[in-house]
Amino acid sequence: MTALTQPRASVIVRGSIDEAARVGAALIAALVRERPDAVLGLATGSSPLPLYRALRGVDLARARGFALDEYAGIDHAHPESYHSVIRRDVVEPLGMDPGRVRVPDSAGADAYDDAIAAAGGVDLQILGIGANGHIGFNEPGSGLDTRTRVVALTERTRQDNRRFFGGDVDLVPTHAVTQGLATILSARSILLIAAGRAKADAVAAAIEGPVTSECPASSLQRHPAVTYLLDAEAASGLRGA
Ligand code: GLP
Repeated sequence: MTALTQPRASVIVRGSIDEAARVGAALIAALVRERPDAVLGLATGSSPLPLYRALRGVDLARARGFALDEYAGIDHAHPESYHSVIRRDVVEPLGMDPGRVRVPDSAGADAYDDAIAAAGGVDLQILGIGANGHIGFNEPGSGLDTRTRVVALTERTRQDNRRFFGGDVDLVPTHAVTQGLATILSARSILLIAAGRAKADAVAAAIEGPVTSECPASSLQRHPAVTYLLDAEAASGLRGA
């Protein structure tokens, strides 16, 4: 069934996430060699960091970028706003042009999909995955037809992310703006990266479970070109592993 719904999904498992990330970095390097102004979908969180590290030295000066999500009601200058994180973890170390990279804002949610479309669409979307199967901030219950919008964060996600806010869950914003599942699925290709046992159940549900809004990442089974970059622990729940 997985094979039928995911005709071109490729699951890459390596002993360490750094090794898996190097495979992903090579795919991105090939894309920008062919199309220097390729449009990358950029994810935050700890999962993509090995991929960004592996990309150092790849010429991304002309590449364009659209971030996946942002907290709502956070000052862009806050060190944990995704505006700050994308600048610190991606734009500056990879030498991207800040003028070519956009991060959504709750006030401009409606216009974000139009901006992506006007750029010609996303060539390659980088994704992490939440322990509850969320992608971006599309929490369980998000529909396949969702577009960029403001959403409420679940208690679990706020608890998972409190480490970025001095450990105090009350400082974690209650809402966020996120690309929707339909927005994410409109990317031409997708790279999902996940490491560690804490992600194993979500990864297994995403790849081998039914397509259900209870696991937003399972929607990726409807996409024809997804690559999963996993370490052995994140892959440990897969039946086919
Ligand atoms: C965050 C982000 C997601 C990310 C996920 C996992 O809440 N909005 O884009 O994929 O949670 O985070 P991490 O990679 O730090 O485990």
